[in-house]
Amino acid sequence: MSHDDTFDPEATLARSTERSRELETRLAKDPSKFRILTGDRPTGNLHIGHYFGSLQNRVRLASLGVQTFVLIADYQVITDRDGVGPIRERVYSLLTDYLAIGLDPAQVTIFTHSQIPALNQLMLPFLSVVTDAELRRNPTVKSELDDTGDRPMSGLMLTYPVHQAADILFCKANLVPVGKDQLPHIEQARVIARRFDERYGRADESRPVFPAPDALLSKSGTVLGLDGTKMSKSKGNTIELGMTADETAKLLKRAVTDSDRHITFDPANRPEVSNLVNLAALCLDREPVEIAEEIGDGGGGGLKKLVTAAVNDYFAPIRERRATLAADPGYLEEVLAEGNRRASAVAEQTLDEVRRAMRMVY
Ligand code: TRP
Repeated sequence: MSHDDTFDPEATLARSTERSRELETRLAKDPSKFRILTGDRPTGNLHIGHYFGSLQNRVRLASLGVQTFVLIADYQVITDRDGVGPIRERVYSLLTDYLAIGLDPAQVTIFTHSQIPALNQLMLPFLSVVTDAELRRNPTVKSELDDTGDRPMSGLMLTYPVHQAADILFCKANLVPVGKDQLPHIEQARVIARRFDERYGRADESRPVFPAPDALLSKSGTVLGLDGTKMSKSKGNTIELGMTADETAKLLKRAVTDSDRHITFDPANRPEVSNLVNLAALCLDREPVEIAEEIGDGGGGGLKKLVTAAVNDYFAPIRERRATLAADPGYLEEVLAEGNRRASAVAEQTLDEVRRAMRMVY
């Protein structure tokens, strides 16, 4: 594979979509062959867009019995901002969401960057096998930098995909469930895994140190914000997992619809209405078209009534668990400490292997 090929977004997406289908089949057959790593930046509270876009999929994968690591990527917060913000609240809010949606801490290792020194140290050998030219080509880094306005490119912004490769490879994950914006990073991690062995490969042992990780694209489409644009906290168009039923109802009342009273599911021509129909369909586990037909001439009011009930019913048990967990900070601290201990042990072992491969044990 040539470099240009590596970062061609359309080719990469097509290849990853096809590959994800294959991987799903293999996962269903033999989940024990896989190890998953995924993560989130603790930059705000999780919302229902995150839930249907990725969190629900994580719960499904973990329930197949796949060994799973979930990273709260606290060091990644400073790729595009000046400080980590109210980091403790945000880390614990994420952790509470993870547990409330049903990730079982006995099976899933939840951990933070900043508590795993050996993971971070992998960044050094990994940086030695990448070039600044390939980092500068990374389309996700470019668009994230553009989103910051006229911020200059920091060394961390340029190299965070390498840090992310350390996130994935420290535990030798071979499966990374992500959205398509993350594909360039997975591709970079694959390149690093391969080049590490080419450059430092262990003459004494036949197996490579790192498996090549695959992206696993989630099947569900994107849930848009309440104004029909991308759901994002900074736009104030989100419904957070931790919100109450009343807050949810108020927000949905203000959601954008259109003037045609007859409700249809037509994402291309009626994005706002269709998004609400889709959200109801996801919560009710039904077909959007069927739901639209049922509302028929009920208009925006009928649609909002139905979607509000659907969202609140679906999230009621999750919100209840969330409240119970939030009332027990001691338990949350214990879960994170245990996750960090487990991740640290794995990272130490990988770092040992890396040093041996590099003939750096002396
Ligand atoms: N970059 C990811 C995001 O913004 C978060 C993340 C950090 C991640 N490290 C990772 C995702 C490793 C997958 C694998 O959403």
